Amino acid sequence: MALDLPDDFTWPSGFLWGAATAAAQVEGAAHEDGKLDSIWDHFARIPGNVAHGDTPEKAVDHYHRMPQDVRLMTELGLDSYRFSVSWARVKPADGPVNRAGLDFYSRLVDELLEHGILPWLTLYHWDLPQAVEETGGWANRDTAHRFLDYTIAVHEALGDRVDHWTTFNEPLCSSLIGYAGGEHAPGRQEPRAGLAALHHQHLAHGLAVQELRARGAGQLGITLNLTNAVPNDPSDPVDLDAARRLDALWNRAYLEPILLGAYPADFLEDVSAHRFDELVHDGDLQTIHQPIDFLGVNHYHDDNVSGHPLPAGHPRGLAPTDKPTSSWFVGSEFLTTPSRHLPQTAMGWEINPDGLRHLLVRLGREYPQLPPLYITENGSAWDDVVAPDGAVHDVERVAFLEDHLRAVAQAIVEGADVRGYFAWSLMDNFEWAWGYEKRFGVVYVDYETQERIVKDSGRRFAEVAAAARTLA
Ligand code: NOJ
Repeated sequence: MALDLPDDFTWPSGFLWGAATAAAQVEGAAHEDGKLDSIWDHFARIPGNVAHGDTPEKAVDHYHRMPQDVRLMTELGLDSYRFSVSWARVKPADGPVNRAGLDFYSRLVDELLEHGILPWLTLYHWDLPQAVEETGGWANRDTAHRFLDYTIAVHEALGDRVDHWTTFNEPLCSSLIGYAGGEHAPGRQEPRAGLAALHHQHLAHGLAVQELRARGAGQLGITLNLTNAVPNDPSDPVDLDAARRLDALWNRAYLEPILLGAYPADFLEDVSAHRFDELVHDGDLQTIHQPIDFLGVNHYHDDNVSGHPLPAGHPRGLAPTDKPTSSWFVGSEFLTTPSRHLPQTAMGWEINPDGLRHLLVRLGREYPQLPPLYITENGSAWDDVVAPDGAVHDVERVAFLEDHLRAVAQAIVEGADVRGYFAWSLMDNFEWAWGYEKRFGVVYVDYETQERIVKDSGRRFAEVAAAARTLA
């Protein structure tokens, strides 16, 4: 059955229906075939960093079950599979490329192509080799050049078969949350290191796009997690200002160097106390400002922003552990995100599909130079259980999916150039600081046996995609 959409609506021709994962979240085999620790392997072993002491060591064993997982993708009717390559598998330390690690991705790409599924490759989804972290990680400018070497190695191995290349997934999380907030690996709580990581990842993106373009790679882009910063009280100047700052730090500081070749002026002012300008060398912004062919948008929820201190004990939702400096700081002030009284997912995230519509439409209006958009992640976590009939009746996820797809359709009607939708996630997996507690998959995974069960949401996804294709 199709979604209940206006009679005259059709999805744009060639609209991609996909699902996404990331290497550290699904592969496991964390120390096999030459792979060494990533920062997430290392961070997760330190007590208190990840809920229940969970680690990515085994994850959902995708490394060994890949052909079976590709068959699952065909059951779901996916046009495309978005996955990431683990740098720590391909170039675990300085030195030669690890052929055995690259071979895994080569087999994966072949398997996808044999099943008519388009590979959508992400180069960096947060799992820096621990060896690179030990030389300063993303706070060290040299890491951008190491990223380029790694990119070249991946392109040499897969460039003949992969057309869609994403440099970074959600750099906000792997820069500010990893190096300043500390909720994510490497768990550093150093404001300037967070800002250095932000700039160096931008630089790495620009260097990689230049190189991939010169090598004739097909479609190049980046995935950003973008949000609507909603002032808690729109009549309170403190909240309005906080929302403006959060928008600068979370959205515009990532979008604008790429799209416009400049950091936003208000962001520069907010971070001046950390001597951000010294990190930006002559020519960097030209390197970063490369044309891209698509922008990946990850969106889960809006952020309701107040400039006033959080009430004691208010959950923050970034990590289960309570890190002392986890609130967002710019200069010396706190930006906080209390909840509006909307329904929430198991992550404590607000459900507001209209936020997705608003974001997609707003992006096109605010940035005339915007390339085509792909929703590279959208989804929800719920406390799924296997019912006595052996199925997983995840009614809330089905409703979330349908409501958000309707919001995407509405955004398209209002002029947003959206070319595809990837569900997060293909299957339940290692949800970073939350470990295995939070399930986002449209396929259920029994972590004891590694059995996979397509959830009702997975079946619904397949149905909607099939109906959309017939109408397109
Ligand atoms: C965004 C990240 O890219 C992904 O790795 C994560 O699991 C989802 N958000 C859900 O938190």
